[in-house]
Amino acid sequence: MPFSGSLAVDLVDPKILHGSQISMCELEHMKKYPNAKVISLGIGNTTEPIPDIVASSMADYARALSTPEGYSGYGDEQGNKALRKAIAETLYRGLPIKDTEVFVSDGAQCDISRLQILLGSDVSIAVQDPSFPAYIDSSVIIGQAGDFQEAVEKYQNIEYMECGPQNNFFPDLSSTPRTDIIFFCSPNNPTGQAASRQQLENLVKFASENGSIIVYDSAYAAFITDGSPRSIYEIPGARKVAIEVSSFSKVAGFTGVRLGWTIVPEELLFSNGIPVINDFNRIVCTCFNGASSVAQVGGLASLSSQGFKAVLSVVDYYKENAKILVDTFTSLGLKAYGGVNAPYVWVHFPGSSSWDVFSDILEKTHIITVPGSGFGPGGEEYIRVTALGHRDSMLEASTRLRTLFP
Ligand SMILES: Cc1ncc(COP(=O)(O)O)c(C=O)c1O
Repeated sequence: MPFSGSLAVDLVDPKILHGSQISMCELEHMKKYPNAKVISLGIGNTTEPIPDIVASSMADYARALSTPEGYSGYGDEQGNKALRKAIAETLYRGLPIKDTEVFVSDGAQCDISRLQILLGSDVSIAVQDPSFPAYIDSSVIIGQAGDFQEAVEKYQNIEYMECGPQNNFFPDLSSTPRTDIIFFCSPNNPTGQAASRQQLENLVKFASENGSIIVYDSAYAAFITDGSPRSIYEIPGARKVAIEVSSFSKVAGFTGVRLGWTIVPEELLFSNGIPVINDFNRIVCTCFNGASSVAQVGGLASLSSQGFKAVLSVVDYYKENAKILVDTFTSLGLKAYGGVNAPYVWVHFPGSSSWDVFSDILEKTHIITVPGSGFGPGGEEYIRVTALGHRDSMLEASTRLRTLFP
């Protein structure tokens, strides 16, 4: 008999079950109502076309690969130099980020897993509760998380930092135990909340005092409208304590193209004095081999002055969708968070189970949402809806929801 893999246990992983449970509910619903036009406000997937200036650059480059002059093979594992420079100069303008500290990737989610390999299983980890499931799931895969404790719906070795309206969506650091790693996402998926400068200053101070590394996920930074920091490196001292992972997925519609980046500052050191950037470089060269050259050309085009304007106009479109959703839920007398600095709206149904709300909305309106409990126990009583969708779906969803709670 073959040996049992270390992940065999994951067949019952609650987070994986959560995603497939939503798909199963959708399938069941479609069987029950074959003529229903189901609207998905569930998974955060982009829907709007990539601006032509960006798509053409990739098409031209790909076509030239069929010519002797245009062909190229492997590139630098860390990414195309011009793109690294453009990321540092465009997205971190005014901040002391060097192009050599930028590692281009095939997406933030992939880098979160590579960072888990870098950090190893013998570390303590804290996450926001609720949070994007990849931080915990990759901790489970690396063998760090420990047992799942059904009674509290938490993994044993993970510190869940409650982040809800009661604490302005920012953890009470005075009662948060020290951990080696703090995963922190701003604007946060699922709550849509961006941390303020003051909150991030507190976080950096907390990490510095405790010798912790912050893994800061800024995948939705382009949606920030209220002046909140777009990068952790806007905070003094962050270069010594933080790694930043980010993505072209939501800013440039690259969810399918796949492109992201991670910043590892030279000043960030392990306790033995070894620069983290050296080890991350080794992981990138060993466990990755560089992002697709075609995708990188697209990334570069999206950071040109014309390209950037074009992709940001798509971000604006999604932000208008978010406003439609916030207004809809607010008009129903519900508290809807987020939607200003992120394409997610986090709606509170006090006293209700998030799965019951999900089922009720699906049954009555044929709209798929995401039950908040899939993002951690702090997501109970909430649903997340995404503004990443076509405008007509948003308007139709709004009309249906308004009839749900007349
Ligand atoms: C917070 C957060 N980080 C990372 C990702 C994944 O990004 P990518 O498509 O670059 O892998 C997502 C995707 O939904 C996300 O919500």
